[in-house]
Amino acid sequence: MGDGRVIAVAGAKGGVGKTTTAINLGVALAHAGQTVAVVELDLAMANIVDFLQFEPERTLHDVLSGTAPTTEALYPIDDRMHVLPSGTELAEFNAINVAALAPVIRSLRPAYDFVLLDTAAGVSPETIYPLRLADEVLIVSTPRVASIRDGKKTIELAHRVNGEVMGVVFVRAGTGRAPPPERLATFLETDLIGAVPEDETVAAAQDMSQPICLFDPDSPAATAYQEIADSLVLGDTADDGDDDAVLGRGGVADLQNAEAIAKSAAKADPDGMDGATKPLESDALTTGDPDDNGFEFVKRKGE
Ligand SMILES: Nc1ncnc2c1ncn2[C@@H]1O[C@H](COP(=O)(O)OP(=O)(O)O)[C@@H](O)[C@H]1O
Ligand SMILES: [Mg+2]
Repeated sequence: MGDGRVIAVAGAKGGVGKTTTAINLGVALAHAGQTVAVVELDLAMANIVDFLQFEPERTLHDVLSGTAPTTEALYPIDDRMHVLPSGTELAEFNAINVAALAPVIRSLRPAYDFVLLDTAAGVSPETIYPLRLADEVLIVSTPRVASIRDGKKTIELAHRVNGEVMGVVFVRAGTGRAPPPERLATFLETDLIGAVPEDETVAAAQDMSQPICLFDPDSPAATAYQEIADSLVLGDTADDGDDDAVLGRGGVADLQNAEAIAKSAAKADPDGMDGATKPLESDALTTGDPDDNGFEFVKRKGE
């Protein structure tokens, strides 16, 4: 127990698998013997309860508004794995609440080995702040252009707020004609943490409101999440340097900074950060194989 490693599960595109990854990585880490809290920070589109079988009476909203202690909003999902749901009222999230997030996460740190932050899509203070609040940022993307472009944007944002990007997990891998995950990670200039294959069991598990790692631990997707969790535990390179007293790398004072960055990012380039993703439009990701179109530029439904 203790000195939790705070990981923001992030990626600017919606529907790419962030919540699925946060929950299942949480269960898989618990199976690997770790204690885990998954904190839902998808404020406008809170939906973690749809993935799990529980109806929270207390949520992060109550915690941030001071009407409930954090412990009352933590729900056991599996042995050693708790979830803190954000609650839909958080659509009316404001700056004061964002500031209150830091001490909440800080209070979880000594109680868990891992604290996973399930973040929202888009570019806003709510998405930027966790990038700084966390020790490490785990990018989630599908192997498709729009998702990777937004993943790149999230990496840039993380760097702008001095967040540490640990690498990328590709979800729904192995579909279409995307280049291999290793190549996509190289394009993103980050480490490949894992690839979770497209797996219809994910939807079946979701229909039963269960994490796939509990519903069918031997399924391809669950196996992939377990491998990622095991590698996180074994290669535990978390920096337990001298900043123990400080929460992550950021503080409340950075909030205004996050707002300014969100504004400038949105203004600078609505389709991508300062042209940083331009190579995607070229042949930067082709494999060199004449039969390989490199990329399927067709958007999937729901992406
Ligand atoms: N490996 C996978 N195979 C098939 N479907 C998946 C996989 N991972 C996620 N999905 C589906 O993708 C959809 C979006 O996932 P979600 O985790 O809600 O994304 P986000 O949190 O990024 O918006 C969900 O319906 C989920 O069931
Ligand atoms: Mg989500």
